[in-house]
Amino acid sequence: MLRTHTCGQLRAEHISQSVSLCGWVDSARDHGGAVFLDLRDRYGKTQVVASPEGGGLLVEAASRLRSEDVVRVVGRVELRPPGTVNSKLPTGEVEVRIEELEVLNKSRTPPFTPGQADMPNEDLRLKYRYLDLRRPQMQETLLLRSRMLEIIRAYFAEKQFVDVETPFLGRSTPEGARDYLVASRVFPGRFFALPQSPQLYKQILMVAGYDRYVQIARCFRDEDLRADRQPEFTQLDLEMSFVDADDVIGIIDGLIARLAKDILGIDLALPLPRMTYDDAMERFGHDAPDLRFGMELVNCTDLAGVCDFRVFRQAADTGGYVRGLNAQGAAPQFSRKRIDELTEYVKQDFGARGLAWFRVEPDGKLWSPIAKNFSESWLANLAERMEASPGDLLLFVADRWEITCKALAGLRKRLGSELKCYDPAQLHCSWVVEFPMFERDQEDQRWVAMHHPFTAPRPRDLRLLETEPERARAQAYDLVINGSEAGGGTIRIHDSRLQQRVFDLLGIPPEMAKERFGFLLEALQYGAPPHGGIALGIDRCVMLFAGRDSIRECIAFPKTQRAMDLMTEAPGEVDGRQLDELGLRVLPMI
Ligand code: AMO
Ligand code: AMP
Repeated sequence: MLRTHTCGQLRAEHISQSVSLCGWVDSARDHGGAVFLDLRDRYGKTQVVASPEGGGLLVEAASRLRSEDVVRVVGRVELRPPGTVNSKLPTGEVEVRIEELEVLNKSRTPPFTPGQADMPNEDLRLKYRYLDLRRPQMQETLLLRSRMLEIIRAYFAEKQFVDVETPFLGRSTPEGARDYLVASRVFPGRFFALPQSPQLYKQILMVAGYDRYVQIARCFRDEDLRADRQPEFTQLDLEMSFVDADDVIGIIDGLIARLAKDILGIDLALPLPRMTYDDAMERFGHDAPDLRFGMELVNCTDLAGVCDFRVFRQAADTGGYVRGLNAQGAAPQFSRKRIDELTEYVKQDFGARGLAWFRVEPDGKLWSPIAKNFSESWLANLAERMEASPGDLLLFVADRWEITCKALAGLRKRLGSELKCYDPAQLHCSWVVEFPMFERDQEDQRWVAMHHPFTAPRPRDLRLLETEPERARAQAYDLVINGSEAGGGTIRIHDSRLQQRVFDLLGIPPEMAKERFGFLLEALQYGAPPHGGIALGIDRCVMLFAGRDSIRECIAFPKTQRAMDLMTEAPGEVDGRQLDELGLRVLPMI
């Protein structure tokens, strides 16, 4: 064996044993005569020493070692001299006195070292990902991810779920993003689409009688990337037969509680709290509210309707809304300049037309440059509505419902973080349920499915499909952790006529439905059980459990914001021959 112990293993109990260690040189210090090295592997670091008693050649060889060289040392474990014990390292009581040193491989001077205190820029980290992955923080995150997957697999095995793999090469699935296409050589001009999710396959598995399906599934979506989105990502995907929304939610509640306990040592009270979509939008302006703090939105449209301030009055009179929030105690920290920044933020990022604000004075009165537009009694009513106390800062947006939601949710998120309204280490998990079935497409105002077109409406809303589809609510549920959408699912339609009715509403005529999802519509006619399921974003869950702020930190080999792999330089160009075989030609982009 090349090594007897790992670099994280030696303790005082090993003193005077002869050991061999292998690892990377984390740091080397030449102390006139003796050379001190920190050897590192994924288990930890151990100090090893080349001293003159080992011979001049040994010391000389050690002094030539550089950061990231790979070495093997054989030597004896010794207690460190008093005063040199490093209490920060688990191995800090001991060191290994080198007797033999073997250089297994020299390293070129690395562009950054895993141990350096300042973080290298992200492009460099992604290009030299193998060096970056040596950083203890990356190792911690990937080990945490591995442990979470282990717990997840054990949990579902206990609950009699069947792990089934579904194809990567298939037909386009409608999760609403652009597909990644794979050209077929055998059928030139035809394409597979990489799955945006295993949605259709898992429903077919229910028709096939598998009853409880689970898969750690890779999904591919060609969409604009953000800190919490990657073009390929991993879902914990599951589907169950003969269940209602409560059953699916209950299974995930149990899983989240177990993960919280085993990973973070937190006892979560079950069932996790639930809120309807309509409540979430009313109280937080967002369908994935961060419930670690309050700062709820307050509707003041009725008050706005009886004031003389043009901006407020107009909104109230034209079907718009005036809503606000109370940033408690924030007034002293918010100078005019900082309030101007908030105003710019809601304008630029959310298309609001402005931000009205009031400071609550020590006497409880509201002060604002626009205060002169209001009567004293009206201001007193507003203060009461907002539960205002001296030192509070009140912020209001007058606009269409959607803009008030977006702008105030954005403000709430920003203020919550800037004002440190919560402990970032806290984990808050909850459900948002009963989403609308449909929303209007931004561009052409068509109805589009809010989750996906296979989602069942609440039974009592079936009639609304014919009269007011916008009011129909789905049997849908999203898992929200710390203000992020960690997962989403629904009870599905298992009746082919209802499925066709929903396709009709979505403007998918029968021929097109047959063309795209004919196999599903057909399968639904061969004894489809009632079924439903959910998918959790594993990368996002790891990010939230590890307290990281990007899923790129939780994926071994992620893509950049521009969907490139900087290490392999993918996507790359291909041979003309390969294109010929596929019957493809690349046109110059205009
Ligand atoms: P949905 O599209 O809501 O549902 O996806 C489920 C969860 O997957 C994660 N997720 C992503 N994570 C990283 N990068 C992305 N680009 C990305 N897109 C989504 C999110 C999200 O909550 N088939 C349905 C599930 C079902 O109905 O059972 C689906 O895919 O955490
Ligand atoms: P104006 O009359 O446009 O100069 O606006 C007067 C004040 O009202 C300014 O502080 C604006 O930021 C604010 N304001 C303007 N439009 C809105 C709006 N739609 N919602 C909230 N405040 C607004």
